[in-house]
Amino acid sequence: MICSVKIEEAFYGERKVLEDIDFKVDEGGILAIVGESGAGKTTLGRIISGLYRFYPLRYSGTIELNATVDVIPQNITDSLDPIFTIKEQMLEIDSNLERIKNTLEIVGLDNVNEILCSYPHNLSGGMKQRVLTAMALLRAHLLLADEFTSALDMITKLKVVGLLKKLNREKGVSIIFITHDMELLDFEGDMMVMFDGNVLEKGSIEEVKASPLHPYTHFLINSTPKLDMHYTRQRFEEINIDRKFACPFVESCEKAGEICKKEKPGLKQIGGRWVRCHF
Ligand SMILES: Nc1ncnc2c1ncn2[C@@H]1O[C@H](COP(=O)(O)OP(=O)(O)O)[C@@H](O)[C@H]1O
Ligand SMILES: [Mg+2]
Repeated sequence: MICSVKIEEAFYGERKVLEDIDFKVDEGGILAIVGESGAGKTTLGRIISGLYRFYPLRYSGTIELNATVDVIPQNITDSLDPIFTIKEQMLEIDSNLERIKNTLEIVGLDNVNEILCSYPHNLSGGMKQRVLTAMALLRAHLLLADEFTSALDMITKLKVVGLLKKLNREKGVSIIFITHDMELLDFEGDMMVMFDGNVLEKGSIEEVKASPLHPYTHFLINSTPKLDMHYTRQRFEEINIDRKFACPFVESCEKAGEICKKEKPGLKQIGGRWVRCHF
C-alpha cells in the first residue's frame, strides 16, 4: 500500500465539499478519479498532496502515505524557480541529461536544447506546463496528475498518458490520475467516480467502463466524444439531475423508488465493486 485515504468530511469555510471518501492505492497501482467540474477532484488531490494548507480548506480523516507525492499541477502556479535555467532545475531531479531531453520530447517540446538553456520567464505558459510535467515524471514514485492535460493538445495528451503507462509498467510508479475525460482511461487500474463531493462508484477501470452500475457513470461514459467519430454526429447521453432529492439521479434511473427521494444511499459492495445506490 502506497497511499491510504479516509476522509470523513472536508470544508472550504462552512461549505462541505467532500464526504465519506475511502480508498487505497497499492504499490505500483493506478487509481483514476473521474467526474465533472466541481465534483471535488482537485480538492481531494490538495488533501492527498498536503497542498490543502495553502487553501481555506480543512478536513477530518487520515491520509497515510508511503512515498512522497509528486504533483503535475492543473494550473501553473510558478513552481519554477526564476533564477535558475531549466537545465539547472532539471539536473537537480535527474543527473542523466539524455533522459531529461527524452522526457522533454515526450511531453511534446521541440528544440529541447534551447529550452534547457532558458529561464522560466523565456517560456510561454504552455511550455512551462510541459516542463513541469516532465519534471514530475522524472521525480515520480507516487504521481498525482490533476487534469495535467488541460493545456495540452490531444496528441500530446495521449503521448503523456502513454508515458505514464510506461512509467507505471517499467518503473513501478504509482499513479493517481484525475480527469473529467473518460477517453483518456485506456489503461488498467481502478477508478472512482465522483459527484458533488461523494463517491458514486468504484471498481476496476475495465469492469466499470464495460458495465457501469450507476446511471451517472453510464452518462459520463456515453457523453465522452469518441476519437473515431469525426464523421458522425456525436450523440450525447442526457441525464436529469435534481438536487432536491436525496439521490439526485432519481429521475434518470430505471430502478429508483420512493426511498431514493428521501434517503441518501450509502456505498454498497457488489463483488469487487462499489456503488452508491439503494438497489
Ligand atoms: N479555494 C477555494 N475556496 C472555496 N471553494 C473552493 C475553492 N476551490 C474549490 N472550491 C469549491 O469546491 C468544490 C470542488 O471543487 P474542485 O475540487 O476544484 O472540483 P473539481 O476539481 O472536481 O472540478 C467546487 O464547488 C468549488 O467551487
Ligand atoms: Mg479540478
